Amino acid sequence: MKSAIPMIVATASLIMAGSALAADMPAAGKAKCNMCHAVDKKVVGPSYKDISAKYKGDSDAAGKIAANITKGGSFGWKLGMMPPKGMGANEAEIKAMAEYVAGLAK
Ligand code: HEC
Repeated sequence: MKSAIPMIVATASLIMAGSALAADMPAAGKAKCNMCHAVDKKVVGPSYKDISAKYKGDSDAAGKIAANITKGGSFGWKLGMMPPKGMGANEAEIKAMAEYVAGLAK
């Protein structure tokens, strides 16, 4: 029975780590972007990690990403067109998503 305790602790911290990761992406991203984007694989659009890598080292990464999300269009990925503001994200949601994406490659 003694050895069951570390097991429970390990399991609980795994569950907590999992939910912390899931909570990282702003809710708007799941609702308004995830039909076309995923964190680490290409869907309709590029993965957030690939986008983040494109802007790695750019001190205004979040600002540029936010501007591109707002205007939509194509950004050289040759995957098609990104709809302006995704599926109707507002300014605060776009800013939160841009910061989230920019932060992935750090
Ligand atoms: C209908 C599908 C679709 C939706 C919805 C969508 N995107 Fe995109 N997105 C794309 C496609 C396609 C591209 C790649 C365009 C290209 O080929 O250059 C893209 C590109 C991007 C890029 C890359 C910009 C760059 O500078 O390279 C970012 C950032 C991005 N999307 C964020 C978002 C966010 C955040 C949302 C939600 C608010 C969102 N997208 C919703 C399809 C979508």
